[in-house]
Amino acid sequence: MSVPSMTLFHNPASPFVRKVRVLLAETGQQDRVALQGCMPTPVQPDAQLVHDNPVGKIPALRLADGTVLHDSRVILDYLDYQHVGNPLIPRDGSARWRRLTLASMADGMMDAAVLVRYETALRPPEKHWDQWLEEQRNKIRRTLVELESDAIAELASHFDIASISVACALGYLDFRHPDLQWRDANPKLAAWCAEVSQRPSMLQTQPPV
Ligand code: BEZ
Repeated sequence: MSVPSMTLFHNPASPFVRKVRVLLAETGQQDRVALQGCMPTPVQPDAQLVHDNPVGKIPALRLADGTVLHDSRVILDYLDYQHVGNPLIPRDGSARWRRLTLASMADGMMDAAVLVRYETALRPPEKHWDQWLEEQRNKIRRTLVELESDAIAELASHFDIASISVACALGYLDFRHPDLQWRDANPKLAAWCAEVSQRPSMLQTQPPV
C-alpha cells in the first residue's frame, strides 16, 4: 500500500464526490488519495475548503505539489490520465462527445437533486418555492425518460464516465429522493442500476445510511 500523495475534500453523501471515488476504485488508484471530510452547504461554507477552492464546493483534489483541482469533471479527467488501464473517458472521436454528454445529463440530474435537497432540508418550509422545486424534479424526470428510451444499451456496453455518472445520480435519487420512485417509469434503467450497483466500486462508495 502506497502513501497517499493527494487529498480529496469529500463528503460521503455527495454524488459528485462519489463519481470521483468510483473512478479511483475502478482504476486502482484509491491508495493514492487521502480523504478529508467536510460538509459545505450554500449557507455554511467550509473554511479550509474555501481556502483551496474559492467556490467552496466538493469535490476538490489537492495534488502533491499543492495545486487544487475542481470540479468533479476536471478531477475525473485528471485522474483518468494517471492510470495505465483503458481510459474511462474516451480521448477523442465521437465516443468522447457522446459519453461526456451522457455524463453531463447525469450531472444535470445531480445538480437538480442536490438543489431540491438543499431547498427542502435547509430552507424554512414557509419559504419553499413549490414551482421551482417541481421544475427541478421535472428536469430529473425528463432526463430519466431519455436515458430509458435512448441510452440503455450504451450505458450497459461498458462502465466508464457515462455509466459511472448515471449510476451515481441514480444512487443519489435513492438516497435523498426515494419519493420520486424513479424506477416505476424506468424499468430498463432500474434493471441496469441493480446490476452495476453490485460492482465493488459502487458498494464501497454507497452513501451513508
Ligand atoms: C447531501 O447531504 O445530500 C449532500 C452533501 C454534500 C454535497 C451534496 C449533497
